[in-house]
Order: sequence, then structure tokens, then C-alpha cells
Amino acid sequence: MSFPANFIWGAGASSYQIEGGAQEDGKGPSIWDIMCRQPGNIWSDDTGNIACDHYHKYEEDVRLMGRIGLKAYRLSISWPRVIPGGTGKVNDKGLEFYDRLIDSLLKNNIEPWVTLFHWDYPYALYCRGGWLNRDSADWFAEYTQVMVDKLSDRVSHWITQNEPQCFLGLGHQTGEHAPGLKLGFPDVLLAAHHSLLAHGKSVQVIRSHAKSRPLVGIAHVGVVKMSSGDQLDDREAARKSMFSITARNCWNNTWFADPIIFGQYPEDGIQLFEKDLPRITDGDMTTICQPLDFYGANIYTGQIIRASNNDSFESETQLVGPALTAMEWEVSPEALYWGPRFLYERYGLPIVITENGMANCDWIHADGKAHDPQRIDFLSRYLREYKRAIDAGVPCMGYFLWSIMDNFEWAQGYKQRFGIIYIDYATGRRTMKDSAYWYHNVIKSNGEIL
Ligand code: FCB
Repeated sequence: MSFPANFIWGAGASSYQIEGGAQEDGKGPSIWDIMCRQPGNIWSDDTGNIACDHYHKYEEDVRLMGRIGLKAYRLSISWPRVIPGGTGKVNDKGLEFYDRLIDSLLKNNIEPWVTLFHWDYPYALYCRGGWLNRDSADWFAEYTQVMVDKLSDRVSHWITQNEPQCFLGLGHQTGEHAPGLKLGFPDVLLAAHHSLLAHGKSVQVIRSHAKSRPLVGIAHVGVVKMSSGDQLDDREAARKSMFSITARNCWNNTWFADPIIFGQYPEDGIQLFEKDLPRITDGDMTTICQPLDFYGANIYTGQIIRASNNDSFESETQLVGPALTAMEWEVSPEALYWGPRFLYERYGLPIVITENGMANCDWIHADGKAHDPQRIDFLSRYLREYKRAIDAGVPCMGYFLWSIMDNFEWAQGYKQRFGIIYIDYATGRRTMKDSAYWYHNVIKSNGEIL
């Protein structure tokens, strides 16, 4: 079961979900700060005001990461913490926080992987139209440069954006995520187009300003379809389904990945979205399509597909009583085989699983420990499938477990626990769950114990 030498064993979290310090040291408000202020938006009216208080406890957290043996940690930067108004004046105190965090990671031999945008968009820019404003691409490029100037002497791994499918789909179309908009589809596609432009410009800035050779990627939702068997027709049906667009929403791979990797929107989407398409200015697709070093996929679940009569695909009927996580997402380990395989075969980029993990019903047991056997079973099954993809020849650079610690799960607040470190939100106390000790052994043996 041994994984490739230099395989990157990591874990991740994001700024708004763990930092807290929402109004400290000059930070500007993000759309999530504003979203959480309005009663009824978030489960139990939870907010990220304090969250895991990582802003103050980051040293303890990094020490725990070191104990677990992480090779890499995926963090995100809060844009309004470093540029409170989104553009213009930089907040040195905000920058200093990331400076200290990066130094502390490096001191513990943990490689920082920095995501520039994991959803906490500056509220000031939202007021200027947010992603609907074409200038948003330049705002993002400006912010990218601030971060690259500050950190690229120590950071070489960059992820431009996390899950455009979610911040557009949930944030701008259905409204359960910040900024809580329920826009018509033409506007959703316009915002998407601008976010793609922002990605492209950001990659250009990283490549032209980084102090040493950067490795750049993006983290997409991996919308994964799994073949119902080994037969060729089922496999091709699953592949076809995984790269098709069949609904007027953001839940697909190709609308977001094809432009950045192939420089064009997918034909089936263009046809389906016909009347709603944004105006594409000359040169846009060239800007969007920048060379990338890896394809980051956040994969939690997958859907089983089989071939249907007319050379097409259909989903397999749902099991009665499926295994579900606390998010009610179906446990489907093979998603980590088919997902990386299909993504690599289409896009030709090395794969990084930028998120995978599960929400579980965790609590501190009577013996003072946090036992989470479900999570250990879940992770080992998924990792074994990931290894199967590697054995089949898919180049896979690494794996980031979601999440290093329990955190603010967006509209679900603190209802869901994804961490391998348990957080007692009342006291801030951290407790390594059984899965954290287990992950330590996985890393130490380079996967051998799986
Ligand atoms: C992903 C998000 C991440 C976390 C996990 C559970 O969609 O990127 O922040 O919420 O889901």
C-alpha cells in the first residue's frame, strides 16, 4: 500500500471557518461576516466571529499539525483581513498574521499551500458589484500581488480559488451561502465568467511576481461519476456523465475547468445556456487559460452511473439505507478512484485531492477521548481507492484531509464536525481525535498501514 515517495500528506482548513478575530487588527468585513449577522441565515445563528480562535491559537494548532506529522497544510487567506476595502490600502497587521503563521509552519517542517480565495469576499467589493463587476478580475489580481510579494519567498504552492461551483451556485444562484443572492442565470454566468478571468489574471501575477518557481492550481468541486462496473460501456457512460452539462446550474466540472485548461467553454453548456451566455470579450479566453501545475479536486462523494440504451447514461437506483455521513452525503470510496482517473484522462494535469473527509457525530467520550471509528474507516476506504488510481497510472501529488480541526461549516454553522482535531468551542480546548493518531501512523508509514 506504500504511496509514491514524496507523496504530500496534508490537511486543510480555511480562513473564515477557523480564524475568528473577525474585527481584530483592522480587518474589514467579509460577505460571510454580514451573512452571519442576519438571524435565520445560519444554523443556530452561529457566526465565524470567534470560530476556533485560530487567529490567536495558531501556534498551538501548528504544533498539533507537527505532532500529527503533516507534510503540508492548506490554508486560505482572508482577503479583507489584508486589504480591508478589497482594493487599495493594505493592512499590515493582517499581513503579519499570515507571516507568522507561515513561519511557524515552516519551523515545524510543514509546507504551506495557500488558497487565495476561499469564499470570504470583501464586503466593500460586494457593494461595488462583487463578481458581477468585470473589474473584480483586476481587484483579485491586485490582491494576489500583495500576497505573492509578501509570501512567495517562503510559499511556493498556490491555489487561486476554492470551488467556484459553490461560491457561484450556492452564493449567487440559490442563496444559502454568502452573499445570499438568488440571481437569474445570466447573472450567475456573468459572475462565473468574471471569476474565471480573475483566476487567469491571478495565475499571471503569481507566475510573474513569485520569488521562486511557483506551483499553481485551483481547487474545484469534483463532481464525480463512478462506473457501475468494469465494463467498457458503463465506464464510458460514467465518463460522459461526469463531463456533461445537463442542468442550468453550477454543478458540473466542465463549465469551470474547460475554460481554464482548454481555453473554451464546453459545447453542450453553450447550447444549454444559449440565451443566458455572458458577453465574452476578445482575449478573455486567452487570459482565463493559463498553464497550471496541478488539478485540485475536492471530492467527498460520487454517483454511480451505468450505460443506457441510446448510447447515453443513467444513474443507478439509490440503495435503500445508504451509508451517509452527518452531512447526509453518501459514503462512496470509489469516488477517489474514478474522480482522479477521469479528471486526469480529460485534463492531463497531475491530481491533488485538495479536500476529502467526513462530518461525523463526534463528542468527547467519558474516557476524555474523541473516538471516531467511522472517520477512520471512511478515510482508509477512500485512501485505498486513491492508491488504486495511482497504481493505474494516474499521477497524484498529494492528499489534503478536510479538515485539520472542527470548524464553522458555512450555513450549517457548528452543527457539523469535519475535524481530526476536536474543538470545544466554549473553552477553545483542542483534543486530537482517534483519527488524528491514526493519520499520524498513515503518514509515518507512507500509507503502508492502510
Ligand atoms: C467544501 C468547502 C469546505 C468545507 C467542505 C465540507 O465544499 O470547500 O470549506 O465546507 O466542503
